[in-house]
Parts: sequence; C-alpha cells; structure tokens
Amino acid sequence: MYEFKQTEFTKVETEALLFGIFMEKEGAFQTIDDAFDGQLKELYESRDLSHESGRVMKLHTFGKTGAKRIFFVGLGKREELTKHSLRKAFGKAFKQLAKEHIEKAAVAVDSLTDLPLTDLEAFEAIGEAHALAPFTLNTYHTKKSRPAIELTELVIASSNREREEQILKGLETGFALGEGANVARRLVNTPGNLLTATDLAEFAQEVAEKHGFEIDILDKEEIESLGMGALLAVNQGSDEPPKLIVMRYQGRDSWENPLALVGKGITFDTGGYSLKGKDNIVGMKMDMGGAAATIGAMDAIGAIKPSANVMAVIPATDNMISGNAYKPDDVIVSMSGKTIEVRNTDAEGRLALADAVTYAKSKGAAKIIDIATLTGGVVVALGNHVTGAMTNDQEWLASVQQAADETGEMIWQLPYFDHYKKEVRTSHIADLNNSPGRGGHAILAGAFVGDFAEDTPWVHLDIAGTAMASSEHDLGPKGPTGVMARTLVKVVMNEAVK
Ligand code: BES
Ligand code: MN
Ligand code: ZN
Repeated sequence: MYEFKQTEFTKVETEALLFGIFMEKEGAFQTIDDAFDGQLKELYESRDLSHESGRVMKLHTFGKTGAKRIFFVGLGKREELTKHSLRKAFGKAFKQLAKEHIEKAAVAVDSLTDLPLTDLEAFEAIGEAHALAPFTLNTYHTKKSRPAIELTELVIASSNREREEQILKGLETGFALGEGANVARRLVNTPGNLLTATDLAEFAQEVAEKHGFEIDILDKEEIESLGMGALLAVNQGSDEPPKLIVMRYQGRDSWENPLALVGKGITFDTGGYSLKGKDNIVGMKMDMGGAAATIGAMDAIGAIKPSANVMAVIPATDNMISGNAYKPDDVIVSMSGKTIEVRNTDAEGRLALADAVTYAKSKGAAKIIDIATLTGGVVVALGNHVTGAMTNDQEWLASVQQAADETGEMIWQLPYFDHYKKEVRTSHIADLNNSPGRGGHAILAGAFVGDFAEDTPWVHLDIAGTAMASSEHDLGPKGPTGVMARTLVKVVMNEAVK
C-alpha cells in the first residue's frame, strides 16, 4: 500500500499530493511556491492558504506540478507539532480524499522535516490517520449506497532515501494500530441479535487463525466446572450460552510474565430484573466495547508482532430476563470462592469481569488491564472524551498513561482510597456487594474488580463514556470509536522494548 519513491515532490505524478504547511515558510514551501511563480505566498497573505492546525486547502495545479491537486495540510507552529495534532490534521486530509473519491495520493515528505518528532513517530501518526479517519461503519441497508472509495496507493515522495526505513515502518505500524481500532468499531456497531457470545467467539477464532494465536473458547460446561458463578449468574436469564474467550499471543521465546487484557463482553445489557428504562436500554449493544477493544488490539498485535506475551480474556454473554434470570438479593459464588450479594442485576459487568480476572490470574497473568463499558458514573464524572482509569500499582498505570499519551486517547485516574475498597465489602450476607450505592459508583465498580485482581498489578479502564462518539470527528465517524484498542497495543509494544 505504501510505496517509497526518491523524487522531487513537485514531480511526482499523482491525483493528490499531501503537503504539510507550517507557520514557518522555509524549505519545501519555497520549492512549491517557486513552481507557482510565487503565487502561493500571495494566497497565504490573503489567508486563503493557512498553516492553522486542522485546516486543509485543496489547490488544482493545472500542470504546474506532477500532482493534479495539492492538499495543503495545516500543521501550526513547527515546534508545537505533536503526534496527536499531526494525526488529527492528516485525519482531516484523508477524510477529504475519501469524500472526493480519490484513490491515489502521495505525501510530500520534504514538507515534513525538522519536526519535534522522530520519523517513526510522525509516520505512525499518519498511518493511524489513514486507517482511522476515512473509516465507514457496516450497515444493513438493502439499497447499497456507492461503496466507500479507499485510498489504495499512497506514494511516499522523498528526496532523501535515508528516511525510507523508519517512514515505512512508522506507516505500517500506524496503519495496523488504526485497523485494530476499526475491528473494534465494527464489532461494537454490530447489533446484539447478530453478535451473540457465540458469534463473538467465532470472530475471535478467525482473528486467532489469521495470526496463528492459540485460542480456547470455553463453553458453558467448562465455565461451570471452573465454578464461574458470577459470569454464570449474568448469563442465567439468557437462551444464548456464555463463552469465555481466551487468546494467547506469544512474542517471546517462552511463555513468561504474560500481560492479561480482560475485556467486558456483554453483547446486550437489558439490566436484567433491575431493568433499564426504554430510553437507557437503546444502544446497549455497545456493552461489549471492552471485548471489542481487546480483540481489535489482538488483531493489531498479530500484525505488529511485538516481543511480549499477551493473554486476552473475554467473558461473553448478554444480560437478559426470564423465569431463570438472576435476581436482586441472590447470593452467588465467584470462581475465586468469594461470595457476592447481588443488589443490582444491572451491575453485571463487574460480575463477569470478576471471574475473568480470577481466570487470568489462575493462568499466570503477571499484570492485568481490564477494559469495560462499566458505568454511567464515569460519563457523569469525565464526559465522553476521557476514559476513567484506576489502579493498585502506580507504575503499571504510568505505562498505560505513557501509551495513551502516544495514541492521543485521553485517560484520567480515579482515586482508589481504602474506604472504597471497604465499601464493596459491606454486605451483611456475603463477602462483596455488587452495588453498594450511588455515590462514586464508577469508582466502586472499579474497586469491585480490584478486589479480584488482589495483589497482581492491575489497571482498570472504564470506557462507558468514550466507546461512542456522538458526532463525526477528525479521526472517524459518529458512533463506535474503537477507543483503547490502539492504547492497549502500545502498552504491549512498550513492554516489548523494556
Ligand atoms: N453497561 C452499563 C454501563 C453503561 C452505561 C455503559 C451507559 C454505556 C453507557 C452497566 O452495566 C450498568 O448498567 N451500570 C450501572 C451500574 C449501576 C447499576 C450500579 C450504571 O452505571 O448505572
Ligand atoms: Mn448493566
Ligand atoms: Zn453493562
């Protein structure tokens, strides 16, 4: 898909040339301005052409360059460029190419010099933007609209061959990261009737086969014999059997210190007998967003092949009502042996995660990240652009924060003081209580899962607010965002270089 060409960017023949424009106008801008006999400077002075970050301007060249059109991508002040501002600016440009049905384009590498980023970082951001921004969601319309046009060829035009290796590596890594998020987006978008626990397991199987991962799909009997009473309770009202999906990626010579990614896979959350209202229930197909991010991340990990060991654990079921369903007041026994008083059947995610975390520990997880559309509380606390994080190990969270800084996916830590740990253990009838109260309930949900992580370094990510975008944005459409898929991969990549 990416083709490196050592050439003067003004000569490269293409439908569209992407040219980065900074406030500082030396270097490449001079070259392109010369091709237009100095007229670009005039356009710039009249403000038709802007260096402002996020501005994209198209110019027809009428034969003055090899490219038919130039897209000037505003990047702001050179020294202030970040990976994320570059990613978003190119996201805008790639979206515009898709809207204009352009299939072949080129990047003027010489317009991207002296950056405060390495080539690896910069072109990873561009590769991510390329995969993420023009992405369109799967729909079930019978009248197909014109198929989305994809950019099938992106020429990397550079006067300097020395940059080739890092640039191509960056682009390919970035594209794989973006595709991982796109996998998650598609999964989240698929409705509950078309994506049961069994369907989710089959999809994971395909990903595993594609990359040669080991995969175990535990069925209901196996889940029963492991004593996963918490996951089984959530599934109890359903006609669809639960699955525990376990994928293993071995990037090291031996299977040592695996990192576990545990993703909430509730394929539809009715709330159970603590039934959701008719307005809140709509959209609850997204309650497997954590599982989707995990599977998307595994797909990207398979493509990038970092030298780290990763185990993905996904408890999958829907949360339904029927004569058999679990009820408030029920007391259940989790895989860990800890008993749980069910106060609210709509606090089902933490139950499914509890057993999945215990399973990951039993399989030797050295560190755990759980990821879940867990609470409405996190939406109230942080809104729709920031994922809530909790941890029992600041150093482990620092690694996740580092990864999130690199991907531009914002996370913010919620407190985990001792009194929260006690509050999930206030049941008069069992060890834990799945819904102690409204105050700080995003934190209490995390604390509940943390009780099962015990001493294993653990980070909790609540993506209830960030898994869906309420409007179109620079890096994708309205709807599922695939949030955290990229960050999870980055965590694993950073583990590999340690
Ligand atoms: N899946 C929901 C959380 C959710 C809410 C996700 C909104 C996405 C958007 C979760 O299972 C849930 O129902 N949480 C309850 C917990 C409460 C009953 C303690 C909530 O947050 O209201
Ligand atoms: Mn719920
Ligand atoms: Zn839920």
